[in-house]
Amino acid sequence: MGIEVENIKPLVGARVYARPEELADPAVARRCLELLEQRTVLIFPRINMTNEQQLAFTDALGERVNFTYTSKASDIEAQDVYTVTLDPKLNPDPEGVHGTFFWHMDGVNSPIDQPKASLLSCRTTAPKGGQTEFASTYASYEALSDEDKAELEGLVVRHRTCAIYRQLVEFPTAEDNERWNSMPAYDHLLVKTQPSGRRSLIIGLSADSIVGMPVLEGRALLARLNDWSAQSEFVYRHHWEVGDLAVWDNCGALHRVIPYARDSGRKMNRTSVAGTAPNLATAA
Ligand SMILES: [Fe+2]
Repeated sequence: MGIEVENIKPLVGARVYARPEELADPAVARRCLELLEQRTVLIFPRINMTNEQQLAFTDALGERVNFTYTSKASDIEAQDVYTVTLDPKLNPDPEGVHGTFFWHMDGVNSPIDQPKASLLSCRTTAPKGGQTEFASTYASYEALSDEDKAELEGLVVRHRTCAIYRQLVEFPTAEDNERWNSMPAYDHLLVKTQPSGRRSLIIGLSADSIVGMPVLEGRALLARLNDWSAQSEFVYRHHWEVGDLAVWDNCGALHRVIPYARDSGRKMNRTSVAGTAPNLATAA
């Protein structure tokens, strides 16, 4: 198997050198899945995959899923490829992309099982901003004290759309609040355990409260966990070059983009691998 791997930081990130056609090989894909859980984010520098090759790699990693299927930015170029851009000509709903400026996990606030992995390839870079930061919540969870870990045991975190919009909209109207509050909530164990036994925190922008805990106390805990996970030893910032591919373990990778201008031309194509562990039941 011809792939080469080099770690980026001690606790997070690896660069993987491979040819696009190798990655659809089941044995190579299995190796990448192992690496993904160990390193949280894999970078394939300037691999220059086509949409078809990216979808073939996605399929080799698991079952393809499209949780943004209702967005007009899906399927513009290829089925199940979502274009991440602020360019209104390419994404008729660019406002939704502003949520990516904040630490988040993909698809955690939707009715599907939390996606296992996301794949993002760079088609055009921004002249300023546009770097993506990844924070490993595997590493941040493992670095907690035993006492802190014991406090988190069994807690359920509730993810809600209204938590996202609270950050994005400065002066919401009564109608805005009513609409956001009517959207369903999704419950997850705050600490998710993989079949390997490795554990991670399911937090980020959409995390709104801890079930059974006073709202303020729950939000204060979530803010502390976000801050803890964003420490530099757990974080890798990727400076994109055209043709780079990043794959992250979406159950253990908070990620965010450094803001970039709407007319920057930045364009990324994302595909996603379905989760295999069910979320807790939809809350409301
Ligand atoms: Fe994302």
